[in-house]
Amino acid sequence: MASSTKDLSDAEVDRLREDTPGVGHRIHFNNAGAALMPNPVIRGMVEYLQREAEIGGYEASAESTVRLEGVYDSIARLVGSKREEIALAENATLAWQRAFYSLRFGAGDRILTTSAEFAANYVAFLQVARRTGARVEVIPDDANQVLDPQALERMIDSRVRLIAITWIPTNGGLVNPAEAVGQIARAHGVPYLLDACQAVGQMPVDVRTLGCDMLTATGRKFLRGPRGTGFLYMRDDFLKDVEPAMIDLFGAPWVGPQRYELRTDARRFETWEANYAARLGLGTAVDYALSIGIERIERRCRQLANEFRASLSAIPGVLIRDLGERTASIVSFTLRTAGAREVMRHLATQKINVSVSPPTSTPLDATRRSLPDVVRASPHYYNTIAEVRTLASAVREIAA
Ligand SMILES: Cc1ncc(COP(=O)(O)O)c(C=O)c1O
Repeated sequence: MASSTKDLSDAEVDRLREDTPGVGHRIHFNNAGAALMPNPVIRGMVEYLQREAEIGGYEASAESTVRLEGVYDSIARLVGSKREEIALAENATLAWQRAFYSLRFGAGDRILTTSAEFAANYVAFLQVARRTGARVEVIPDDANQVLDPQALERMIDSRVRLIAITWIPTNGGLVNPAEAVGQIARAHGVPYLLDACQAVGQMPVDVRTLGCDMLTATGRKFLRGPRGTGFLYMRDDFLKDVEPAMIDLFGAPWVGPQRYELRTDARRFETWEANYAARLGLGTAVDYALSIGIERIERRCRQLANEFRASLSAIPGVLIRDLGERTASIVSFTLRTAGAREVMRHLATQKINVSVSPPTSTPLDATRRSLPDVVRASPHYYNTIAEVRTLASAVREIAA
């Protein structure tokens, strides 16, 4: 499908749905959990696995070297980086950990983060703080409970060693001002690690505009890739001074009895063994998104999410929990009449997939807002307005 700047037409959406086996028997609004893979992704992986079975795993990767190397080019195109700045990983968390645990902290160093930070990242801050005496501090939010860049600017001093924030949190449609944070990080020369897990695949991502040194993402969410995939971007000028916390013979070849040499590219953060079928699936998913056009994907996602929010706001007893004015394609809400898990179970009986985001995924935000489990409905471009209406009327029934 040729990329264009126009909105996705109904005919295009129909074609994209024909290419998505999962939409035939479910209404899938759990794209922030794991999106439905399109046919080319599934086919490519199955064919590759068959090849491994037929000729052997090493032999299959050898004959697919060009395609496997192409995955780095595809991701680099997606995020506006060089291919040498990309390392593949098994998920976003591992990509993030490989970056974070390679940074050096000492007593009194400051790590600045956001109230919407993902719990996995936050516990890692706590562990490193306990080990090193570094301090973890939360950047204040503005009146809309969105990270306030001016407050960040005021926090900067010579002890700030890292700014690490989540762009779009796991528990709602908030979009933090990642680019404004990048400008401050650049102006003060502070390393900047951006968790873009929920952003990649649903909106344009350009690491140069963002001004980040490190960015992490997963394959299975809005990118529509397979589970067990993710990647790390690390800026080349930054990565040359970062020694991975753990190394193996791929990232750091043993070049003499007492010597190893780190690879010069971001693949110093990889290990030798990998799931090549999944990697190819990830690369195909990226190409697929690029061929549709990321701006068009973003517009369509936003249209569907806003339509759903508008329907929800007309249902008595429903509380929309999303923060901020410019929201992403994650709609979080609670009902007065039923808990989030009950809502999810009820919708599942009608073959509608949503998920639940518990307070433990984003403890700082959940605590300050006294959030219970929230229902999370996350449309993608292959969802339809008719599906949004079906979801809304199912919620209306539960809320009654
Ligand atoms: C904001 C955010 N960051 C990181 C992650 C972790 O991604 P993964 O499960 O691929 O490690 C998630 C997953 O839900 C997420 O929503």
